[in-house]
Amino acid sequence: MTTPPPDHATAELPSSAASPATPPPGCPAHGLDQGLGPDGIRRLYGPEAAADPMGLYEKLRAEHGTVAPVLVQGDLQAWLVLGHRENLDVARTPSRFSRDSRRWRDMQDGKVGADHPLAPVAAWQPLCNFVDGVEHERLRGAVTDGLARFDRRGVRRYVTRFADQLIDGFAAAGQAELVSQFAEHLPMLVMTQLLGMPEEYGPRLVDAARDMVKGTATALASNDYIVATLRQLVERRRAAPGDDDFVSWLIEHSAGLTDDEIMEHLRLVLITAFETTANLIANTLRMVLTDQRFRASLAGGRMTLPDALEQVLWDEPPLTTILGRWATGDTELGGQQIRAGDMLLLGLAAGNVDPAIRPDLTVPVHGNRSHLAFGGGPHECPGQDIGRAIADTGIDALLVRLPDLRLAVPEHELSWVSSLMSRHLIALPVEFTPVRVKQAAASESTSVTLPVQPAGPDPVSAPAPASDQLPRPRRGWWSALVRWVTGRQDLE
Ligand code: HEM
Repeated sequence: MTTPPPDHATAELPSSAASPATPPPGCPAHGLDQGLGPDGIRRLYGPEAAADPMGLYEKLRAEHGTVAPVLVQGDLQAWLVLGHRENLDVARTPSRFSRDSRRWRDMQDGKVGADHPLAPVAAWQPLCNFVDGVEHERLRGAVTDGLARFDRRGVRRYVTRFADQLIDGFAAAGQAELVSQFAEHLPMLVMTQLLGMPEEYGPRLVDAARDMVKGTATALASNDYIVATLRQLVERRRAAPGDDDFVSWLIEHSAGLTDDEIMEHLRLVLITAFETTANLIANTLRMVLTDQRFRASLAGGRMTLPDALEQVLWDEPPLTTILGRWATGDTELGGQQIRAGDMLLLGLAAGNVDPAIRPDLTVPVHGNRSHLAFGGGPHECPGQDIGRAIADTGIDALLVRLPDLRLAVPEHELSWVSSLMSRHLIALPVEFTPVRVKQAAASESTSVTLPVQPAGPDPVSAPAPASDQLPRPRRGWWSALVRWVTGRQDLE
């Protein structure tokens, strides 16, 4: 059995989408409103795409097969890869499909300027996820070697500790909203710890990191705070290396990363880990709370928590689409003629439900990890074990502490927000029998619920300007990327 992606998603629609003037389906005069571009090519952005991305992928599959022409922001043409095998072909063949966005013809032709909506995710950066070959091995090698040094049991210990602190924060209330009070906090708390940010940096850094990625009004100030903090962390570790933290391992790595490269890769790891793992936790919690098979398993049935996690990675992958790969020469894929410089989007969610590999979506995928949720080929996610460990250890801690956890609203009232790359649950209200929390534990838990805004000098004298002292935030690549990936448009 499987959990089909929910069909009651609501996206953040522009007001026009809800207008009574919405045209009837199929009206040729309203192609734009119907998600079609001028040439009849479907748009992968806009109201229709945001409201039902999975439905759109199936239309594209029916019309074009395993590789479909689509329009991305600015009505630029691209290819969406829908087939499971074709996605792997693209991801595994960097000689044909490069990660280097400087090959993008539209970029070379000046159609993707600094203000283009895709610039944050497509403009080339000296990061491991934009390079191929030897340079990729150099940068990624340092990251993967560092991640590999984490002691798995140590990671799980951190997860349990932070999960317990978060649960302490709401256990006595008998109710909680698990997206904002649990799923979004846990990955960032664990990651800042793993990155070797000293405990005394305290809640401000964790909250600033979460704030930055959520794209709230204070996100740019939070971003600046994080940049300054990461930069100072690198300087401190250069001066006095530690022996059990990620930053020190990056510094001492034979790849010889510069301080800028280290800082940028720390940020890459923070953002990649945050949005994905928070989505995985939220989606798995929803499944655990609503799927009878899982409930039955607690009483000796069939579906374990790791099973549920893997099922979610198949059916609701935390990243639905990856942008992108760029064709190195004229080639053919899925019967389509791809030209040198064309952009391809890896359709992770679409590839996972390709009828060629899953003719019956109700058949369980237990034990099968060949989904596309972590991408593939040389760029396949190097943090997947950590992401899985945070999600399953954290959810397990929650279910042990609050065994009668249940949804507080009817399932059909849950709603989602979509962007080109991801789709996430907006809220997951739950209730449970209130649990008394020991005083010491309760006061410790406040360390993860303080307000976001940096408000005074911090204990390790990292720059921590009060909000009115912050330099006018620059609208940099980082914050624009965050705004874009999370689909939040309110970040100014
Ligand atoms: C459930 C959680 C996660 C999911 C679903 C996920 C998914 C992905 C995907 C789809 C990619 C792109 C792969 C490609 O282009 O083929 C990626 C890349 C990456 N991920 Fe993850 N990720 C997760 C957690 C993490 C964590 C926890 C970390 C770090 C500790 C991490 C670090 C990275 C890095 C550094 C890259 C770039 C790799 C490269 O380009 O060589 N991810 N991830």
